[in-house]
Amino acid sequence: MNYGLANTFPQGNACLVIGVFDDEQKNYFSNTLNTSHQQIIQRLKGKLSEVGDTVWQADYQDHGLCLIHCGETEHYDEATLGKIIGTIANFLLKQRIQSAIISIPQLSARTPDWQLQYMLLQLENARYQCLEFKTKSKKPYALESVWFDVPGASLEGLKSAEAIAHGIQLTKTLANLPANICTPSYLAEQATLLAKQFDTITTKIHDHNALKEMGMGALLAVGQGSQQTPNLVEIQYKGITDGAPTVLVGKGITFDSGGISLKPAPGMEEMKFDMAGAATVLGTIKACAALKLPIHVIGILACAENMPSGSAIKPGDVVTSMSGQTIEITNTDAEGRLVLCDALTYVERFHPQYVIDIATLTGAVIIALGHEYTGMMTKDSELADYLLQAANESLDKTWRLPLDSSYQEMLESPIADILNSPADRIAGSVIGGSFLARFTEKYRWAHLDIAGTAWQSGRNRSATGRPVPLLVQFLQKLAHAR
Ligand code: BES
Ligand code: MN
Ligand code: ZN
Repeated sequence: MNYGLANTFPQGNACLVIGVFDDEQKNYFSNTLNTSHQQIIQRLKGKLSEVGDTVWQADYQDHGLCLIHCGETEHYDEATLGKIIGTIANFLLKQRIQSAIISIPQLSARTPDWQLQYMLLQLENARYQCLEFKTKSKKPYALESVWFDVPGASLEGLKSAEAIAHGIQLTKTLANLPANICTPSYLAEQATLLAKQFDTITTKIHDHNALKEMGMGALLAVGQGSQQTPNLVEIQYKGITDGAPTVLVGKGITFDSGGISLKPAPGMEEMKFDMAGAATVLGTIKACAALKLPIHVIGILACAENMPSGSAIKPGDVVTSMSGQTIEITNTDAEGRLVLCDALTYVERFHPQYVIDIATLTGAVIIALGHEYTGMMTKDSELADYLLQAANESLDKTWRLPLDSSYQEMLESPIADILNSPADRIAGSVIGGSFLARFTEKYRWAHLDIAGTAWQSGRNRSATGRPVPLLVQFLQKLAHAR
């Protein structure tokens, strides 16, 4: 896919996609569109109100033309812009357009580069296809080139939007892969592949033996029922040589059957997405490397497959985590916190500036926030503010949930130091966060529960690539604050 700025390229007979306000006096024309384009619009703009939502005129002076209603000028906001880009993407892809110039009004509250990035990411989102396993009807979209007409936007802005898009794409692709392909060792290979692509990236794979030596009893327990051996993938992006790193820890359950606490059959296939946290870490690091951010990021993927078998952990089993704390495993389906707790202990050695874990941890976060907001938990209000600012800037919506110590009572076990899942299901997401809080006292930490936001269910169920935009925005800000 080629992207460009409308003023930097002769666009040939590309389809013109023009956003027009409904209040006739304030029709939007960009100064970068050439005058013949402007004349076409002038002549047609009156027709827009008579026709439907979009107007399609084929072969108008060698151009396809698509006019888009943008509503009233004063109600033009981010939500409207999002819908408009959705409409445009739909139109371009369905009509099998090959090249287009997109010229829609700019939001006054955002910079031109912000709008450019938002448009590009939304378009890439819509254009994403997973055709790998289709042997019939494998029809890639025809769209090849898009030029954005955003006066004031820069070429660097375009390049960085593309870099972020590539990160999101990787996250989506990995999360979409079925669990018979995307195993713990596959994730390790993907990390190694990134290290081959960028000389700022290095990887280290901690295999089964290494996990044993480090005493990662909780991570090993989750993997012990599966034929797939668990591992811990360490991936470093070094855009600078000094300074404390920011650590991203991703839940990498490549399939979550629930284990002996087996999940119900309907919808279980969606549990191939249970490594979306790990995929987010890889996508974010890829974006950082492509952006050449002056920052040090360490990614840790805690990978295992959660399966029932004769060797699987059983409800009531007690294991010892790397931290030394013993855990009574009351529910083998609360496996995410088990793999994460050992990874979170492991990262102490890096003396990190921040640690953020990303996990499809609880179904309860979907009950609380649906598929709109990622649930964020942290005791660190400053870090919470940074993440919320990044959410606002990237429109990757995030909501803070509480995490005070009064919830800890529910995690008390009669036999071990802590249990992994209270019998009572109340406050499920906060309880998940509270469990992790016991392993993160040595550094500044936040937990992102992405069970609701990392993928969309339904007929076209697929990964969303969230929260890569949030994390990249957070890291960009951190890099610039240096
Ligand atoms: N991977 C699931 C969480 C999940 C559920 C993600 C639905 C996406 C959609 C997690 O491992 C899990 O099973 N959580 C349990 C926790 C409970 C046993 C405390 C849950 O949410 O039911
Ligand atoms: Mn589970
Ligand atoms: Zn899970």
